Amino acid sequence: MLTLLKLLKDGRFHSGQALGAALGVSRSAVWKQLQQLEAELNLSIHKVRGRGYQLARPLSLLDEDAIKQASKGEYWPALIFDSIDSTNAEALRAIERGQPAPFLVLAERQSAGRGRRGRAWVSPFAENLYYSLVLRIEGGMRQLEGLSLVVGLAVLQALREQGVAEAGLKWPNDVLVGTRKIAGILLELVGDPADVCHVVLGIGINVNMQANAEVDQDWTSVQLSTGKALDRNVLVAQLNSKLQHYLSRHQSEGFAAIAQEWEQNHLWQGRAVSLIAGVNKVDGIVLGIDQQGALRLKVGEIEKHFSGGELSLRLRDDS
Ligand code: BTN
Repeated sequence: MLTLLKLLKDGRFHSGQALGAALGVSRSAVWKQLQQLEAELNLSIHKVRGRGYQLARPLSLLDEDAIKQASKGEYWPALIFDSIDSTNAEALRAIERGQPAPFLVLAERQSAGRGRRGRAWVSPFAENLYYSLVLRIEGGMRQLEGLSLVVGLAVLQALREQGVAEAGLKWPNDVLVGTRKIAGILLELVGDPADVCHVVLGIGINVNMQANAEVDQDWTSVQLSTGKALDRNVLVAQLNSKLQHYLSRHQSEGFAAIAQEWEQNHLWQGRAVSLIAGVNKVDGIVLGIDQQGALRLKVGEIEKHFSGGELSLRLRDDS
């Protein structure tokens, strides 16, 4: 079925006869496959008598050769799936199977994409980036300090390079355009963090998504922000290169060397916020982050530091 999709991905008209000939099947078999594509992948295909079939809009499909061509630095081997439950879950299974790190897991869609704090990450077919990078970390906690914030900075710079000029960071690791989320990051770790462990850097970026009623928060995408569709292979290569830059600085100099750059890109510096931890809430003013990546909040007259994956920030109405 995906072979048929690859023939159609250019967004031009293709006759049933030509598609049938390319696939070695009858025109009615083509028709059946097209119906399946529409139903299973939620795609819209135009059928015009005398002209044939056309995707409602061209698709950018993941392609390892295209990623390689667009890449400048070190190339990380990639496991690419048409469909998977979650690229993070598959990355964890691959670690278990003994796949040598670093490596990437990418997918056209996720059926059970994972977000932070137990939320789902909506992952429609071929529209966005579902990207998990696996690293083997030796040398203990220092290599993990502020890591998720560093990944956020790399994602931000990759998006800026693609023309999303207004993007900024929200502690701990959301990337926003104004108040709308464009990318999210979920780190998962296996092994002994004090000795040798593997960390999965899971990154979801809304790329060419234009509408989706399932997303339950304010969101935007690269295409909505720039007005242009983006080849996702180019974005993968760009993200690889930014991650290589920031991860190598993080490894050699530590998070403290990157903290200031992170803070300069924090959209909520000085804002009045509520910090939510489950049912608990702390109100304060954002002072910034410390040398470990913890959030510095002015609570009353006292400066307090907060860290942990289950925390989230909301702007207060009076800010
Ligand atoms: C968030 O809630 O902000 C984090 C979202 C992380 C989503 C990405 S998509 C690729 C990787 N695989 C997953 O299942 N989740 C992460």
